[in-house]
Amino acid sequence: MKTVRCGIIGCGLMGREFASAAARWCHLTDLDVRPELVACCDPNEAALGWFQASFPAIKRYADYRQLLSEPEVQAVYCAVPHHLHQQIYCDILQAGKHLLGEKPFGIDQAANDAILACAARHKDVFVRCSSEFPFFPAVQRIGTMIEKDAFGTILEVSAGFLHSSDLNPTKPINWKRMVRFNGEYGCMGDLGMHVCHVPFRAGWTPRNVRAVLSNIVPERPDGKGGMAPCETWDNATLLCEATGADKKPFPLTLKMQRIAPGEMNTWYLEIKGTKACARFSTKNPKRLELLEYAGGEQAWRQIDVGYEPAFKAITGGIFEFGFPDAIQQMWAAFLDEMHHGRARNRFASCVRPEETALSHRLFSAALESQRRQSTVAL
Ligand SMILES: NC(=O)c1ccc[n+]([C@@H]2O[C@H](COP(=O)([O-])OP(=O)(O)OC[C@H]3O[C@@H](n4cnc5c(N)ncnc54)[C@H](O)[C@@H]3O)[C@@H](O)[C@H]2O)c1
Repeated sequence: MKTVRCGIIGCGLMGREFASAAARWCHLTDLDVRPELVACCDPNEAALGWFQASFPAIKRYADYRQLLSEPEVQAVYCAVPHHLHQQIYCDILQAGKHLLGEKPFGIDQAANDAILACAARHKDVFVRCSSEFPFFPAVQRIGTMIEKDAFGTILEVSAGFLHSSDLNPTKPINWKRMVRFNGEYGCMGDLGMHVCHVPFRAGWTPRNVRAVLSNIVPERPDGKGGMAPCETWDNATLLCEATGADKKPFPLTLKMQRIAPGEMNTWYLEIKGTKACARFSTKNPKRLELLEYAGGEQAWRQIDVGYEPAFKAITGGIFEFGFPDAIQQMWAAFLDEMHHGRARNRFASCVRPEETALSHRLFSAALESQRRQSTVAL
């Protein structure tokens, strides 16, 4: 069993998720690589408290440069606000550490260009971007169908990620609602990579985009008794003309919404083709809907997909798969691909740097489309 010694930079919501996934690695049964958490870093003392209580043996730092100077750290998970991605990701790569970075992989196009240029200068390190929803077993099945070309000619693809907690106008502002920390992309920077992962991996490339972006709640409580401007885009709908391997254009609709009433954390994907159609939503995480057409009657069927992850686990096949499982599967994919030099399958693999670059071209074009109120070519 190969051990990869890992550090975490950014010990907030997502930093804790990785630490928890690493701590229950015994859950996975067919891997020959495992992470060992050896160090973590966050300038916020309170964020380190959970790590201190849960993993008393690991080193804790307030300055990430100290963590990077630790020779024993081989790989870093970096989950910090977007305005810090460029500086910290490049420093990680320059320190010769493997990187699983968080999306959007740079606050804007220029930052993403700089990170990719740095990665190109450090080809000895393995670099990927986080995105966990394709690891839901039903989505893995859809991935297998794409691999087998089961859909026929693609007619239409829709993908989205919907939240609703911002419907409450009294929710205090945080960094994800401020342009200087989250970026001009707003909800696209926050939610967009999740939506693009499967379409991009399938080879469905947007050629142009008409975006409708909405800033629905322009100010929010600042948490100190006053109000603060909330300048980021709350909702984005992107209608793209996309093409796949057969070069036949089809509509690709991508929705990223922070104000979608009734949606807690809904990631969905719907593919319509001449031979098959498939639908999945995390709202009903076991349910895979399929329509297969070989002439004759056309009918959707519903399948309850059990615990059938890409990387096998101890959990019985009839049990439910959830968000922490998807995070752990994503980590398994990252380490397995890093260790073996290839992904186990096309859809059980983390986002590649060039896919983040395509997402930045798309989101930058979407901003331009909103400004010009017209379709913008990528
Ligand atoms: N994959 C997912 O499902 C998912 C979900 C949420 C957020 N994210 C991404 O994860 C990243 C972090 O988001 P989050 O929700 O965990 O945010 P968060 O605010 O909960 O945590 C960010 C942490 O970074 C720390 N930090 C700030 N400056 C730092 C520095 N110089 N060095 C080290 N740590 C520093 C903060 O103190 C904070 O604890 C973002 O890129 C976000 O887009 C991914």
